[in-house]
Amino acid sequence: MPELAYLNGVIRPINETYVPIEDRGYQFGDAVYEFIASYNGKLFCLQEHLDRLEKSMEGLSFPKVDRKFIQNAIDELFEKAGMARAGLYIQISRGVAPRDHAWAKDIKLQIIMTIKNVIELDSKIRDQGIDIITVQDERWSNCDIKTVQILFNAMAKQKAKDQGAFDAIFISKDGIVREGTSSNFFLVKDGGLITHPLTKNILPGITRMVVMDLARNLGIKAEEKFLSKTDLFSAEEAFLTGTVTEILGIKTIDGVPIGKGKPGEITQKLYRALREKAE
Ligand code: PDD
Repeated sequence: MPELAYLNGVIRPINETYVPIEDRGYQFGDAVYEFIASYNGKLFCLQEHLDRLEKSMEGLSFPKVDRKFIQNAIDELFEKAGMARAGLYIQISRGVAPRDHAWAKDIKLQIIMTIKNVIELDSKIRDQGIDIITVQDERWSNCDIKTVQILFNAMAKQKAKDQGAFDAIFISKDGIVREGTSSNFFLVKDGGLITHPLTKNILPGITRMVVMDLARNLGIKAEEKFLSKTDLFSAEEAFLTGTVTEILGIKTIDGVPIGKGKPGEITQKLYRALREKAE
């Protein structure tokens, strides 16, 4: 099956699908999104992604959409594509209207989706761990809403790549470690996990939540605490979590080795537990 796109109820190949030029998602970043992955033909944590999508829509004062309607649309595209290991992207914009900052009351939401096969990360990268850099967080103050306004995230990821690193993590102006460009950040200290509390400065990651549960089930302490940049360099292990990233061990931060300079035992244990749960 080719990669498919869904546009307001119509499913066609991606390269034959076009969004109108006056879509507010395109002109104002006035849209929310989710990225959901499947394992063995089953979408992982679909309900949790739908919960977050609803919260994001509420955060931008979008009108409510019947959850069943969205779920049916997702199911239809997923079944049609017939991909065992799919990455499904759903974006809902406020709608299409002549360009104006304010919007009319009768504007209609636009729902688009794409579905593609997931390209698994090279297992060598996973085994050896990644190099990451730190970048000052200059994003807006509602990072808990999953909007398509992720230009600063894209620029930070590109900066990392340009420097030969794999990714970047955001550090606030006052030195607090926030999250990755498309992932949450965890550190291991005294054998337990520490990650940023759920505030408006980070996205409430679904994988983050799953990892906290897995850790507790495995008898690993998991805490939500603010970490400063200096805490990074005394960590035993560090990793990123996300739907695409899954759990990815960190080798160095700003060129400084973390722990033994490769993904640690806890990182690997959690990765295996995540795959087991998802598959
Ligand atoms: N990004 N933080 C940010 C800024 C993100 O963009 C993401 C996910 C996460 C992790 O969330 P989750 O575990 O629910 O995937 C954290 C998706 C994958 C993306 O942008 O495609």
